[in-house]
Amino acid sequence: MVTYEIRCIECGESHDPTRPAYACTSCGGLLEAVIDEKEAAQALDEGAFRDRPLSVWRYREAIPVDDISKVASLREGGTPLIRCRRLGEEFGLESLWIKFDGTNPTGSFKDRGMTVGVTKALELGMTTVACASTGNTSASLAAYAALADLDCVVLIPEGNVALGKLAQAMMHGADVLSVRGNFDQALDVVMEASEKLGLYVLNSVNPFRIEGQKTAAYEICDQLKGVTPEALYIPVGNGGNSVAYWKGFKEYDSMDLTSGCPTMRGIQAEGAAPIAAMFEEGSDHMKPVEEPETVATAIRIGNPANWKKTVRALKESGGHASTVTDDEILEAQKFMARLEGIFPEPAGAAALAGLIKDVEEDLADRSAVTVCVSTGHGLKDPDTAIRQSAEPRTIEASVEALSKLLGGDGR
Ligand code: F0G
Repeated sequence: MVTYEIRCIECGESHDPTRPAYACTSCGGLLEAVIDEKEAAQALDEGAFRDRPLSVWRYREAIPVDDISKVASLREGGTPLIRCRRLGEEFGLESLWIKFDGTNPTGSFKDRGMTVGVTKALELGMTTVACASTGNTSASLAAYAALADLDCVVLIPEGNVALGKLAQAMMHGADVLSVRGNFDQALDVVMEASEKLGLYVLNSVNPFRIEGQKTAAYEICDQLKGVTPEALYIPVGNGGNSVAYWKGFKEYDSMDLTSGCPTMRGIQAEGAAPIAAMFEEGSDHMKPVEEPETVATAIRIGNPANWKKTVRALKESGGHASTVTDDEILEAQKFMARLEGIFPEPAGAAALAGLIKDVEEDLADRSAVTVCVSTGHGLKDPDTAIRQSAEPRTIEASVEALSKLLGGDGR
């Protein structure tokens, strides 16, 4: 196993990795896993990792788990990086790519984090895993808990979880609790209860989640054959995924497996944008949004737990956070579906919506290698898709009826 440390991002204090920890016991700061990059690079090379299939565990030597033979895996990662020629032409972008992480086993990027997080739960001897969720975390955790034979409790905001995600969590046998409140309140409850009730929390404040999710950045560099994208657009909710990507790009660069890092743009929905507001106001403090609202329910978060790490990551990359409206998100979702055959859930279209806005405001470099991260599959949220689409027309079961409808001679 790679040598690593669980370290506070504020005061640098080291924490015992054999005990559950989500915040610094000295100062309350967020924790991160710091791996020995030199050792990992050497071990990856000796393990001939490039001969392995593209996946989270292709990079096993850079992921801090004890025993690779004991991982809980559903073959996550290895998702397509799709060259988007039609979208590129539409917006005058020379090299536009979408990393479609909605093709993971449960339909979202969360699986990358859960394969590591649930493996860690087993290593630590925990018997119950838990999370608060806008939907995808709960769907993914429920699936991995089923696989690993762990009890699973998920707290979701009442009335604001897309149907597909709810179906998943229920089908995988999780205890699904609908909280009278929003995601931020549900997360507060889980965090407060964790120690008392012996719950292993697998929200993205758990540093091992990030260790799995960072592999998406490694994959992008490998898929671009060692070229690092110049710009990366990513949706921001609780902030964990942008932190994970930035960690991944930085590590891959330090390990000499690629060169350079992209500028990262975090995209929030206008009604749930406390991090974008910080950039707009030039403030160092986040003001939570009390009643976040957006059609992209996955990122309907007003008090992102990882805001400090996220802001640091975006700034370090030379980027920032900005907003898109619900209409812009839904428009981008249709563009992806109709020009590229990619069907994301609304949050999975937010990154492209942010890029389109930048293009329209002349803020994007049109010749740059640009990647938009699409985080979740459209089938997660069929209601929103159907609401935006024309109803199917009904015809008699006859060629005449079809012919009439298509205008006589067909098309
Ligand atoms: N996209 C999708 C589809 C998501 O489900 C989420 C987060 C994000 C983007 C934002 O990622 O929180 O790491 O910044 N969903 C969480 C959940 C909150 O509970 O499923 P983030």
